[in-house]
Amino acid sequence: MNNDKKNIENILFQINKCNNIKELEFLRIKYLGKKGSITNKINKISEVPIKKRKKFSTSINIIKKIVIKHFFLKKNILENSFQSSLKTKDSDFTLSSKELSFGSIHIITKSINKIQSFFIKLGCEIIFGPEIESEYYNFDALNIDKNHPSRDSHDTFWFNKKFLLRTQTSSVQIRVMESKKPPIRIIVPGKVYRNDSSLTHSPMFHQIEGLIVEKNISFSHLKWIMKSFLNNFFKKKCKIRFRNSYFPFTTPSAEIDIFNKKTNKWLEILGCGMVHPNVLKNVNINSKIYTGCAFGIGIERLIMLKYDISNIRSFFINDFRLLKQFK
Ligand code: DAH
Repeated sequence: MNNDKKNIENILFQINKCNNIKELEFLRIKYLGKKGSITNKINKISEVPIKKRKKFSTSINIIKKIVIKHFFLKKNILENSFQSSLKTKDSDFTLSSKELSFGSIHIITKSINKIQSFFIKLGCEIIFGPEIESEYYNFDALNIDKNHPSRDSHDTFWFNKKFLLRTQTSSVQIRVMESKKPPIRIIVPGKVYRNDSSLTHSPMFHQIEGLIVEKNISFSHLKWIMKSFLNNFFKKKCKIRFRNSYFPFTTPSAEIDIFNKKTNKWLEILGCGMVHPNVLKNVNINSKIYTGCAFGIGIERLIMLKYDISNIRSFFINDFRLLKQFK
């Protein structure tokens, strides 16, 4: 009995010493939790010899009751003192809280999303293709001759003689035309890679490819689509011109220049054209029945122009001063 008394005193002393609810809860688990020492003793009542059992069980249950009662009393005291401490003059609830900083969607992703929603309204499906591509899809099937200089001008990253990091999203045109019959209306957003680095060139950049193959698609459709797209992207009526150009997979081919009022200069912004009959032939589409138009947009270039950004690397070095502006 003496031992029991000491035991209770010790527990009550510890309860009293608690300064907060967390400490109190720790003690509660220590004594009354599933593996707590009081619970343990109660669980072992049946193992106590019959003669001593009644006495043992009465005393341990009394201990339990006393301890529980004191836990509740102490809990009440601690909770009340916390409430009242909130009301003292020491607390100033008018102080502003710590500012949390939130991330935001990158301007490239944001722009791609916007461009996508423009083309979805024109009935285009969004398609993705592999970044590791074969020579066939990236060059051969696009009517790019084995010795054509454009293969060199793309500064390709080769894995071996057959596989490479795609240099253009145009490769996906072929993949889609192989697996689908016209009418086809798609855009292909994605990363492309070229071994080239400067203020305006990065080894990885983003393109959006567009392809429409239907009956009676003409260059005037392409012109209307490109004009509407650029006005929508720049949120104003843009002054543009179509300049005669050359891409092996389109004929006729054009580059679009946009007039930059600040510099008083024309700036080349994207390539487009009517899908070359050889390309249609490579994917078994009858060019006498179907015609197609295509375009390739360089995303970084358009964003740099829209927001007057001079260094393409600013997109990729996580400079908060740039990123924050596009929240
Ligand atoms: N693939 C070309 C490039 O990366 C861009 C391009 C030009 C795509 C004309 C097209 C096109 O679909 O018709 O330089």
